[in-house]
Amino acid sequence: MQGSLADNAGPRYRHVAGESAPYETITVDKLTPIIGAEIGGIDLSSPLSNRQQDEIHRALAENLVIFFRDQHLSPAQHMAFGRLFGDLHLHPAAPYEAGMPEMMIIHSDKNSPRANGEGWHTDVSCDVEPPMGSILHIKKCPPKGGDTLFASMYAAYEALSDRMKKYLEGMTAIHDGEHVYRGLFKGLGVADKPVYPRAEHPVVRTHPVTGRKGLYVNAGFTTSLVGVPRDEGDAIIHYLYRHMENPLFQCRFRWRENSIAFWDNRCTQHRAMWDYWPNTRSGHRVTVKGDKPF
Ligand code: SIN
Repeated sequence: MQGSLADNAGPRYRHVAGESAPYETITVDKLTPIIGAEIGGIDLSSPLSNRQQDEIHRALAENLVIFFRDQHLSPAQHMAFGRLFGDLHLHPAAPYEAGMPEMMIIHSDKNSPRANGEGWHTDVSCDVEPPMGSILHIKKCPPKGGDTLFASMYAAYEALSDRMKKYLEGMTAIHDGEHVYRGLFKGLGVADKPVYPRAEHPVVRTHPVTGRKGLYVNAGFTTSLVGVPRDEGDAIIHYLYRHMENPLFQCRFRWRENSIAFWDNRCTQHRAMWDYWPNTRSGHRVTVKGDKPF
């Protein structure tokens, strides 16, 4: 019968897990069937074999964000780990360690006016070639709180209605860094740049490794949809922002000191919880360059 309860039975998003070949050099313990896995049996401060690198790459592709515990990396080792996945990205605005522009500082304490990444976003999606991945090493944790939430943009896309998928097909959106970055780090002594990046990207992007489609708009950077009236575009992107926040698409990572999260910016969004004020949370992020979304 049309419109019966049975038509709507079951979860809004039904994840069909693909078969994963066994791993030989690492352990992979999934946080949820949809997103996130904790990787064990590896010390990222030692040189990694080709097999280990391949398996980490595969674990990232299969789980979208991967986590490592008890890792003690020097800045040089953190950057070397990042370089296994591509050239390192330089953030257009954020503060970094002296003499190491690749080592972005992530730090909040009782005097901080703000914390990094408090709203849902994909890192630096305003770049014409936005970062492929980010590798965050947290060294000091608050006694409680400071978790990071990650959401699968594959799941968000796949859960859209067929009509909405059709509507979004071929559509592009503007991602702008200006309203995000101007003045943001003034309190930390970082001077503003004359201009910040701005780019036009497909609303639905295809992952270059997995071939899966994912939603690629985020409340941090996306300012408008191209080719539709402003009021229509605003209504649609705000619907998409609400839609992608469904906890069904998410995992939540509880940090411990010396944990690492490595997320794929091409198919995830994340949000850091600043629920630990006045305590301190700090670490460093190394970001890996990506390519132009298609
Ligand atoms: C970020 O890189 O957006 C910050 C994430 C976090 O601090 O957990």
